[in-house]
Amino acid sequence: MSNDGVNMGRRRLLVGATSAVGAVGAVGAAVPFVASWNPSAKAKAAGAPVKVDISKLEPGQQMIVEWRGKPVWIVRRDATALENLAKLDDRLADPSSEVPQQPEYIPHTPNRSLRDDVAIMVGICTHLGCSPTYRPEVAPEDLGEDWVGGFYCPCHGSRFDLSGRVYSGVPAPTNLVIPPHRYDSDNVVVVGVDQEKA
Ligand code: FES
Repeated sequence: MSNDGVNMGRRRLLVGATSAVGAVGAVGAAVPFVASWNPSAKAKAAGAPVKVDISKLEPGQQMIVEWRGKPVWIVRRDATALENLAKLDDRLADPSSEVPQQPEYIPHTPNRSLRDDVAIMVGICTHLGCSPTYRPEVAPEDLGEDWVGGFYCPCHGSRFDLSGRVYSGVPAPTNLVIPPHRYDSDNVVVVGVDQEKA
């Protein structure tokens, strides 16, 4: 049975960028490859926006793309996950995202996203820069019965919810960063450019 957990985890993880986002590379190598329209390595290094097809991203799944040399997570949240996010305020250090870690057009709501179902954030821990692990399960043995899904940093134990909001009492001081992004269509998100003002 223990293998099932591992496989489930891998199935949830779709990796969009090839080159080597060090901390996620080891996981990335073992999972399906989903990418499109990514610019050349040279352009990426220079900070070019990355266009991502999220049409195959199912509820509960995570994609990782590389932007400016950093891993950017794209996670599709289901209705239960969204309900749980709305109940977490008392356990979070900055539930309303008051410390500026996101573009101004991202709402300061529990969902912290342009679209309720899709979360986008830079996958780098705000403590010392490890890349946290996607842990969407509810109440897994190692994270405890009050865990409702989120991200766990294996370096020093920081915890974040599925919007990248940091829990209280962990080493990480702030929520995860949300990169600039916009949707070109229902299935295409561009990371690295701001949403145009209405
Ligand atoms: S780097 Fe994530 S908890 Fe220290």
